[in-house]
Amino acid sequence: MAKQLWKPGNMVYPLPAVMVSVADTEGRPNIITLAWVGTVCTNPPMVSISVRPERYSYPILKETGEFVINLTTKNLTFATDYCGVKSGRDVDKFKEMQLTALPAEHIKAPLIAESPVNIECRVRQVLELGSHHMFLADVLAVHVDEEYMDAGGKFHLEQAEPIVYSHGAYLATGELLGTFGYSIKKKK
Ligand SMILES: Cc1cc2nc3c(=O)[nH]c(=O)nc-3n(C[C@H](O)[C@H](O)[C@H](O)COP(=O)(O)O)c2cc1C
Repeated sequence: MAKQLWKPGNMVYPLPAVMVSVADTEGRPNIITLAWVGTVCTNPPMVSISVRPERYSYPILKETGEFVINLTTKNLTFATDYCGVKSGRDVDKFKEMQLTALPAEHIKAPLIAESPVNIECRVRQVLELGSHHMFLADVLAVHVDEEYMDAGGKFHLEQAEPIVYSHGAYLATGELLGTFGYSIKKKK
């Protein structure tokens, strides 16, 4: 098994590519696509996003301390990429991508209606790491689309066809390979 030795870099893939929505102090919304995103704590529920200070969204995040993580799907792939290559300095990404801004429950940043899961977050701490600054945030609320709820109240995220971002590529998910703990389940 021959391995190539690469210089240090980021190679934890696949990752989610999420659309993070923000609103500036005047209420103008924007969307920034992020892949440097993580779940960092279950209780209290906390997440992290890492953003370069040169992004248009960065001072908005810094000033308001609020954002929404919107999960992305096959239908949202084009918009996900667009919101990751165009800047809110130049375009209204909600308008250009015909996305619908919905009011959040606790914060002024809007939800993206077309996303199946919207996670409202409030920044607790900013870690100035280097190229990226990490916003550590509390999850204030989670909105899930009823379309993917079954009669028993179970949420089927897989039916929304979530996508992943892997080493520069957007990929579909879909094949069920197992469920949590299946490796140690007793065979019937
Ligand atoms: C798939 C993907 C993932 C990205 N991940 C990040 C990220 O984690 N952090 C970041 O600062 N920029 C990331 N970007 C780049 C920003 O989304 C991009 O610079 C965007 O145009 C910034 O928007 P804004 O200027 O409106 O804030 C990513 C772009 C793409 C396409």
